[in-house]
Amino acid sequence: MRLVRPVTLTALVGFGTSAQAQSCWENLTCTGPLDAAFPGEWSTNIFAPSSRTVAPTSILSLANTSVISAWPGSAHIAGNGSALVFDFGKEVGGLATITYTAQGSGALGLAFSEANNYIGLWSDSSNGKFAPGGGDGAIYDNFTTAGNHTYTMDKAHLRGGFRYLTLFLITNETSSTIDINTISLEIGFQPTWSNLQAYQGYFHSSDDDLNKIWYSGAYTLQTNAVPVDTGRWVPTLAVGWANNGSLSNGTTVIVDGAKRDRAVWPGDMGVAVPATFVSIGDLDSVANALQTMYDHQNHDGSFPEAGPPLLQQSSDTYHMWSMIGTYNYVLYTNDTVFLTKNWDRYLHAMEFIYAKVHQPSGLLNVTGIRDWARWQQGFNNSEANMILYHTLQTGADLASWHGDTTGLADTYRSRAVNLSAAINQYCWDAPFGAFKDNATNTSLHPQDANSMAVYFGVVPASSSLSSRGQSISSRLLENWTPIGAETPELPNNISPFISSFEIQAHLTIGQTDRALDLIRRTWGWYLHNPNGTGSTVIEGYLTNGSFGYRNSRGYSYDDSYVSHAHGWSAGPTSALTNYIVGLSVTGRLGSTWTLKPQFGDLEHAQAGFVTSLGKFSAGWNITNGGRSYSLWWNVPAGTIGNVTLPTLPSGKTGKVSIDGKSFKNKSVSKTNGLTFEVGGGNHSIVVVSK
Ligand SMILES: *[C@@H]1O[C@H](CO)[C@@H](O)[C@H](O)[C@H]1NC(C)=O
Ligand SMILES: *[C@@H]1O[C@H](CO)[C@@H](O)[C@H](O)[C@H]1NC(C)=O
Ligand SMILES: *[C@@H]1O[C@H](CO)[C@@H](O)[C@H](O)[C@H]1NC(C)=O
Ligand SMILES: *[C@@H]1O[C@H](CO)[C@@H](O)[C@H](O)[C@H]1NC(C)=O
Ligand SMILES: *[C@@H]1O[C@H](CO)[C@@H](O)[C@H](O)[C@H]1NC(C)=O
Ligand SMILES: *[C@@H]1O[C@H](CO)[C@@H](O)[C@H](O)[C@H]1NC(C)=O
Ligand SMILES: *[C@@H]1O[C@H](CO)[C@@H](O)[C@H](O)[C@H]1NC(C)=O
Ligand SMILES: *[C@@H]1O[C@H](CO)[C@@H](O)[C@H](O)[C@H]1NC(C)=O
Ligand SMILES: *[C@@H]1O[C@H](CO)[C@@H](O)[C@H](O)[C@H]1NC(C)=O
Ligand SMILES: *[C@@H]1O[C@H](CO)[C@@H](O)[C@H](O)[C@H]1NC(C)=O
Ligand SMILES: *[C@@H]1O[C@H](CO)[C@@H](O)[C@H](O)[C@H]1NC(C)=O
Ligand SMILES: *[C@@H]1O[C@H](CO)[C@@H](O)[C@H](O)[C@H]1NC(C)=O
Repeated sequence: MRLVRPVTLTALVGFGTSAQAQSCWENLTCTGPLDAAFPGEWSTNIFAPSSRTVAPTSILSLANTSVISAWPGSAHIAGNGSALVFDFGKEVGGLATITYTAQGSGALGLAFSEANNYIGLWSDSSNGKFAPGGGDGAIYDNFTTAGNHTYTMDKAHLRGGFRYLTLFLITNETSSTIDINTISLEIGFQPTWSNLQAYQGYFHSSDDDLNKIWYSGAYTLQTNAVPVDTGRWVPTLAVGWANNGSLSNGTTVIVDGAKRDRAVWPGDMGVAVPATFVSIGDLDSVANALQTMYDHQNHDGSFPEAGPPLLQQSSDTYHMWSMIGTYNYVLYTNDTVFLTKNWDRYLHAMEFIYAKVHQPSGLLNVTGIRDWARWQQGFNNSEANMILYHTLQTGADLASWHGDTTGLADTYRSRAVNLSAAINQYCWDAPFGAFKDNATNTSLHPQDANSMAVYFGVVPASSSLSSRGQSISSRLLENWTPIGAETPELPNNISPFISSFEIQAHLTIGQTDRALDLIRRTWGWYLHNPNGTGSTVIEGYLTNGSFGYRNSRGYSYDDSYVSHAHGWSAGPTSALTNYIVGLSVTGRLGSTWTLKPQFGDLEHAQAGFVTSLGKFSAGWNITNGGRSYSLWWNVPAGTIGNVTLPTLPSGKTGKVSIDGKSFKNKSVSKTNGLTFEVGGGNHSIVVVSK
């Protein structure tokens, strides 16, 4: 086993008392929290293991993947090419150590797979090369003597994400056998946390599937927080794999996927960062990922599309996602040191992208045309314009947070207003009732731009454009299949990344049932898919239910290349907290917040998260068959929030009491909720039918 340093006393003092005497990855100092911020019955939904060292739970047959026996148990492999499959029961990743007793000579082979249907003597693909003949293959421990052997994977062969480990024997001797004695996997993700279950946020509701979906997003984000020296090596190997690329400074960094690409992709962080904040709360990994983008900013002000060692370039949309990521990070942390350090570079980035806005249209003309995998990008692409709108809005907040006195916030806000007008003028398809893919007469009405238009407020609910939002929400339904929304800008594909924006679009305008339906179809389908990991969220899949994301349009990847633990698909995790429980931060650190529940078909829901101001939590509970409900919140004193009481499910007028006393002259009408401003603390409200 690896030599490790125990957690430091500082970490113990800083984070609580029930310290487990566990250590972190390699010799890293443990800086993660030691205890969950909100212990409770929901913790049974946490997929993360209780220890940084884990073992498989069962043995499967290679022939048909049915369970042979539990593990630990007996595991005898005899003859060339024979194998046993070890199932960890969920996504894991790291370095395995295997002890075994051999007869004769030969090699112990190890092959890995995230999905059940790519189990075999050849690993699923993490390098994009075709198998067989190229691709990941297997790794071997060659033995020449009978007796006991111990094999530990070398660090470069760290396998970032898998559920199944196939152990097999390659030998020239008919009498050679292997008996597996022990298998232990040192978890390689979230390297600075000794307790992988020390979540800083939680969610719980009356719908167990939604609960598991929330926790599968959270666990995915944990598997995407990786040691900074375990990025995928570039150029990718033709055969085999190497995860020894340098990703960023610091110790831990958020990448796009556990198995691959194992690189910083800021577009993914548009979903992954809000979801991280409400669940595990690991913003150190986010800071290092963003810093790496600033450290590799180009001379023209553009950011790379992906961090090192890949350093993919030329994506205007991902450039803007780095800027939006900066906003989200500072919103959640108020890390003014980070903001000050990078402010000039942020301004340079803003100049770079805004210079692509041309008159007379006033629309952004995209020239860095790489993007999330949509089929077409460039010119006045609507999605890019929606992202620019959000970049300008968030830039205005950043400017005031930075203490800018040169009027930048006003400049950015008026640019956003002008851009919104231009988008609504040139990109809106009035007869159809949704945005086109760009300002030309195209019949493509994309899922990404339309979802973002509503979510980012290019068609605000509280304006004369509100009917556009409702029309978009209805039109989006036409893309739906029984297993998720087909994305028109990448036909035959379902993108849980873009669907993460779609669910938040429906929720933004109160289409709760649509959002919950789409979550259940998409993420529910994957969670229950017997070929999936049962514990994470997948990068994408095809409308025919196979995992060959993007393969229908000329990409030459092996179907097994898809990542089954991709943080960009974790949208339900933040959506359920921010919109269903309804608790979200609006000012830095939650100094201001909103609580605006949406009941949908649920009976109760609650959630919480932490900032340096303290713990924030809230919940609600429908009672008396919808004739009343209770709502509570417990947030730091000194903060201030807007609470919106929804209408009663019974459709009746409701009278309101707060902290046990009648809320004078306040009621919830049959059609309209009630919004009011409140201070922090621990409060509860009951609304009862009149
Ligand atoms: C961990 O520390 C031990 C003892 O100082 C050292 O031998 C070992 O090489 C270190 N491992 C790594 C990965 O740095
Ligand atoms: C699966 O294969 C094993 C042999 O590895 C066999 O014993 C078992 O009957 C098979 N099960 C099914 C359901 O086909
Ligand atoms: C099998 O025999 C060949 C030829 O002697 C040798 O090159 C090879 O390494 C052997 N393979 C194993 C797994 O022992
Ligand atoms: C799982 O994979 C197998 C093998 O590819 C396939 O036959 C089966 O239909 C898949 N199951 C689902 C639910 O997709
Ligand atoms: C170990 O065994 C594997 C499988 O037979 C073989 O491909 C590889 O070349 C062997 N490695 C060494 C160093 O002998
Ligand atoms: C080999 O390992 C097995 C299982 O751990 C153990 O029972 C046995 O005593 C070991 N043999 C030797 C020679 O160390
Ligand atoms: C680490 O920081 C230095 C100094 O800012 C920078 O030059 C270097 O590129 C960074 N390394 C990585 C991997 O981002
Ligand atoms: C707009 O972008 C396209 C590439 O997407 C480029 O060919 C064209 O010259 C640009 N137009 C202007 C006015 O910059
Ligand atoms: C507009 O969008 C359609 C659909 O994506 C695409 O085929 C067309 O090339 C785009 N035109 C311009 C000028 O961007
Ligand atoms: C954020 O940090 C700045 C600078 O330290 C401070 O002035 C401001 O009050 C902080 N905001 C909050 C909400 O704590
Ligand atoms: C909901 O409220 C009822 C009545 O106050 C209470 O008995 C029940 O425990 C609550 N349930 C939850 C999940 O809060
Ligand atoms: C509450 O909403 C009102 C109206 O939109 C707004 O003026 C006020 O600033 C909000 N308060 C907080 C704490 O966000």
